Amino acid sequence: MVLIRSLPIYLTLLLLEYALLVRSVYSSNAFSRVVQHTHQIAARHTRNIARDLRLAFGAVLVSDPSQQPLDDGRAVYCKSSAAAGNGGQGNNSSSPTGTNSQGTGTSTNSAAVGSPTTSAVSTPWKLIEAHNGSDFFQGWSFFTGSDPTHGVVDYLDINDATSAGLAYVNSAGNAVMSVDTTNNLTSNRKSVRITTSSQYDQGIWILDALHMPTGCGTWPAFWTNGPNWPAGGEIDIVEGVNTYTNNQATIHTNPGCTISSSNSTVLGITGTIVGGTNCAAAETNNQGCGVRSSSDVSFGAAFNKNGGGVYASKLDDTGVSIHFWPAGQVPSDVLAGTPNPSLATWGTPFAQWSSSGCNPNTFFHDHSAIFDTTFCGDWAGSVWTDSGIPGQEQSCAQSTGYPTCEAFVMAEGSAFTEAYWEVKSVKIYQYQS
Ligand SMILES: *[C@@H]1O[C@H](CO)[C@@H](O)[C@H](O)[C@H]1NC(C)=O
Ligand SMILES: *[C@@H]1O[C@H](CO)[C@@H](O)[C@H](O)[C@H]1NC(C)=O
Ligand SMILES: *[C@@H]1O[C@H](CO)[C@@H](O)[C@H](O)[C@H]1NC(C)=O
Ligand SMILES: *[C@@H]1O[C@H](CO)[C@@H](O)[C@H](O)[C@H]1NC(C)=O
Ligand SMILES: *[C@@H]1O[C@H](CO)[C@@H](O)[C@H](O)[C@H]1NC(C)=O
Repeated sequence: MVLIRSLPIYLTLLLLEYALLVRSVYSSNAFSRVVQHTHQIAARHTRNIARDLRLAFGAVLVSDPSQQPLDDGRAVYCKSSAAAGNGGQGNNSSSPTGTNSQGTGTSTNSAAVGSPTTSAVSTPWKLIEAHNGSDFFQGWSFFTGSDPTHGVVDYLDINDATSAGLAYVNSAGNAVMSVDTTNNLTSNRKSVRITTSSQYDQGIWILDALHMPTGCGTWPAFWTNGPNWPAGGEIDIVEGVNTYTNNQATIHTNPGCTISSSNSTVLGITGTIVGGTNCAAAETNNQGCGVRSSSDVSFGAAFNKNGGGVYASKLDDTGVSIHFWPAGQVPSDVLAGTPNPSLATWGTPFAQWSSSGCNPNTFFHDHSAIFDTTFCGDWAGSVWTDSGIPGQEQSCAQSTGYPTCEAFVMAEGSAFTEAYWEVKSVKIYQYQS
């Protein structure tokens, strides 16, 4: 019965995906890739659709350890659904006041190796908020609600996270956010999710990281979002699952925000549109509009092995754009803490949502930055048996020998020693002409 109800959605997505894919991305074995890709996207929308698709594809139906019903029929994939209850932080965007150190000093603190000499440049973008060094965790709140994306995770408060050694600043001065590695758990795996107290209508958020969580079962993200999701908008800057090596950036908004093309050349981006061009959460079953990076060191183990890198998300009157630079390729203005974004300084973004299709002043406001690491749930769990994705050439079911993500995550704690963030800094800049 449930299956029948969902078939039209499935078929619609299948056709949409087929139309998009035939035009560009895949050259061989197109049909099975289309099916797989459709499954992947559709599975992210809602728990029920994910279940239905598993049945439709004859795949294994995962168990439901969190036992959480969809309370109001709202789709559940997006990380930010919880922001609807993000602690009641208010609107301080007009004159944001970070709770941490401010200044405009030159920074030599970066993941870059062998990079050009850092030099401060004149720029209207001023450092407003810096999270780095021993006071990295000042100005963040630790989210302790249940995971809105249905992961088998328990988010710890600051005291428990600190005493469990899951949130600390290491001897190198980098912030570490890790997860419990106990084997054979009987309750959800412990992890950390933190949100900045400050909120900004516009800005540049720059993440400089050495390491991000990776491995079958993991689903880490770094993103920003506003209140009353999706009214305040969501910008997923770093996101992926399992053993993926290519990052996916996505926005989720109220109706009326679109990407003008699905052609990367036309859009002026190096990434590839995945899914549709309508960014409205409610009109796409929460899919939003995502872009996959073409860099195979932009996510996961490949990012870590390569020495990490820097992500910059810019939200201003021109729209949203996201750049990624692997370690050693970070522009000198970014290294210097005086970001001066232009095509000449930063190159082509891998993802961009221009104001022509999506007025940023309408669809984004009061954004906080958020880190998390969850397990399984609506994305990592739903693609457990999928293969042929960059980094996940073999499915996690095959590589781990576990039929479900949840069974693996509960049993094999020692598999999660790489499931940690090591962050040099998060810096937030505001345009002050
Ligand atoms: C994308 O746009 C460019 C420039 O207009 C064009 O040359 C190219 O054929 C397009 N690619 C696809 C897959 O349509
Ligand atoms: C935030 O702003 C919205 C409208 O912009 C308003 O409805 C809401 O009450 C404000 N919240 C706080 C905490 O001031
Ligand atoms: C807004 O900022 C002021 C400081 O400027 C702070 O005292 C107040 O708690 C903030 N309000 C919210 C809701 O964050
Ligand atoms: C943190 O960043 C600020 C601003 O860029 C810089 O002045 C400071 O030296 C940095 N602190 C550490 C410990 O790296
Ligand atoms: C979990 O428990 C089972 C049964 O006691 C044991 O065989 C297995 O080795 C344990 N797994 C791990 C990863 O410790």
